[in-house]
Amino acid sequence: SASVSYEAENATISQGVVESDHAGYTGTGFVNYDNVAGSSVEFQVTAAASGPHGLVFRFANGTAADRRMSIAVNGVTVNQSFPGTGAWTAWATVTVRAVLEAGVTTVRATAITADGGPNLDALTV
Ligand code: GCU
Ligand code: CA
Repeated sequence: SASVSYEAENATISQGVVESDHAGYTGTGFVNYDNVAGSSVEFQVTAAASGPHGLVFRFANGTAADRRMSIAVNGVTVNQSFPGTGAWTAWATVTVRAVLEAGVTTVRATAITADGGPNLDALTV
């Protein structure tokens, strides 16, 4: 079915701020994670049908260091790489595959390293 984008600036943010100083984001801005482990953004996504889905995270990482995050989907976590994109204005995507039930699922992206997460623009499901 058609994909839906959820803007990070509309999600539930813990230890992060909405900013718009690096061009190329969708919506009205992006989330700048605080540069600490444990900072997080939580989305409520809706799947029309149960089954495998791609969770597409759009992000920028203007550093050379991977900013890995723990992606929790209904409490099941995977450790996902968010590598450097070359500039804070260079946005890229990574996709996490997950089986979703029809209806609403909580997806939380939590920084693992002391650098915090990348700048996070949106999640498309
Ligand atoms: C810079 C950049 C921020 C980014 C931060 C970081 O301050 O302007 O958008 O979040 O670096 O290193 O996390
Ligand atoms: Ca940051």
